[in-house]
Amino acid sequence: MEMKVVEHDVVPGGSTVIAGVLSELNPLPGSETVLDSVDEALLKASGFEGKPGQVLTLPRGDGIAVLVGIGDEASFESLRTAAGNAIRAVKTPGAICLLAQAPVDGATRAVAEGLGLGAYQYRNYKTKSDDELTVEVVEIPGGSGEELERALAGIDATNLARDLTNTPAADTAPSEVAAVLERAAADLPVEVEVWNEARIRKESLGALLGVAAGSDRPPVLVVMSYQPESSHKHLGLVGKGITFDSGGLSLKTASLMEEMKDDMTGAAVVGAATIGIARLGLPVRVTTVIPLTDNAVGGNAMRPGDVLRPVAGPTIEVLNTDAEGRLILADGLGVVRRYEPDMIVDVATLTGASKVALGEKIAAVFGSTSNVASLVLEAASRAGEFFWELPLFRHYRTNLDSNIADIKNITGGRYGGAIAAALFLSEYAGEGDWAHLDIAGPARWRETAGEQVKGGSGVGVRTLIELAATLGDRAPK
Ligand code: BES
Ligand code: MN
Ligand code: ZN
Repeated sequence: MEMKVVEHDVVPGGSTVIAGVLSELNPLPGSETVLDSVDEALLKASGFEGKPGQVLTLPRGDGIAVLVGIGDEASFESLRTAAGNAIRAVKTPGAICLLAQAPVDGATRAVAEGLGLGAYQYRNYKTKSDDELTVEVVEIPGGSGEELERALAGIDATNLARDLTNTPAADTAPSEVAAVLERAAADLPVEVEVWNEARIRKESLGALLGVAAGSDRPPVLVVMSYQPESSHKHLGLVGKGITFDSGGLSLKTASLMEEMKDDMTGAAVVGAATIGIARLGLPVRVTTVIPLTDNAVGGNAMRPGDVLRPVAGPTIEVLNTDAEGRLILADGLGVVRRYEPDMIVDVATLTGASKVALGEKIAAVFGSTSNVASLVLEAASRAGEFFWELPLFRHYRTNLDSNIADIKNITGGRYGGAIAAALFLSEYAGEGDWAHLDIAGPARWRETAGEQVKGGSGVGVRTLIELAATLGDRAPK
């Protein structure tokens, strides 16, 4: 989506209503404000009161006006939500939508995010276009260019991750995910290295190879590097790239397997965030490691009871082949540590247990220290994404003790699964600053509302970009 900033009067009393004008014949109403030209009698009769979530489209001159309520308090969240609802109310093909915004500092970014994220549609497999949204240009009245740049980088990166998640697993083999990331990085100062199976074997990534053994589609490991001229901090990212999670021999039931094309969302999120960070030229070095493989049930599949040797750290007794994300992340963490980042963040659709704990709209964050977790929580809050901290509770660590190897991949117990998975990863994350983001819940939105569109969410992308911006700001000049 293309957007630009134009100068425009703010809506009078604009703290309660975002007003938008849509007209093909008269796209730019000059300094005339939107509400002035709306038929007051119609407005009254409609029952529209500017409550959060209310959307009203009214005739206005040659076009229509879209009014969206944001309630009494204009916050970034209410603006983002309202803008997302507004953009979907715009149905005219090729139209220009103009939104006058409430006078809030930083509103451009929130409004732009709502528009750009809310207008997202995944139509690659649709053959009819009857319900297609075709908004081509969006103008943000009176907005700031810098905020818009920031918003656009977050929007495009999030929508890239959404595309990757939404694509059926048949069309996202490990090598195909790598190719998409290579293409996205082509015009940016991001180097993309793709390790094939032979290289993965040479590097002794035994845990990734173990998971990959059950699939005819070979694994790959992607290393993306963004190294700006001035950077004092180095961020290491790792994303879970299970291109389809059948569970392996510990096979999932049909209903649990239905959505497992999503299981490479962590990979999509860290890959897309790296693209967004580079596009903004943030002064932070980023090294992103993405292990990609199916978790399938071929004749050579790993068996419960097998022991895997990751590139570094404890040997792993695999008691449940469906706890595969932590296996490939063990190798991903091992690889990223070689680059000696100052802070590591991994992102994964790791556990159903995190959904039990937090529901489907909140992602879990674990930090090696509470400072690290706070950094992520603050970044998430600025980005408008929902995270909550869960504890890396050391007393549960012995539940992962294995009889024959150094560690096992499940506890065997019913409770605290998200924490157990995080404790497992901590064995491979090293001694430094590390955060683990379990996005199993919000990797997919269940409903369309505001900036959220049903399907792959791209949650985590904007938080990571924001985190990188924070690390850049903190770097000594
Ligand atoms: N990919 C799943 C986790 C998941 C579940 C993501 C539901 C999104 C929605 C992961 O690989 C998995 O299967 N985890 C198991 C772990 C268990 C075997 C210890 C789980 O959560 O059931
Ligand atoms: Mn699994
Ligand atoms: Zn999985």
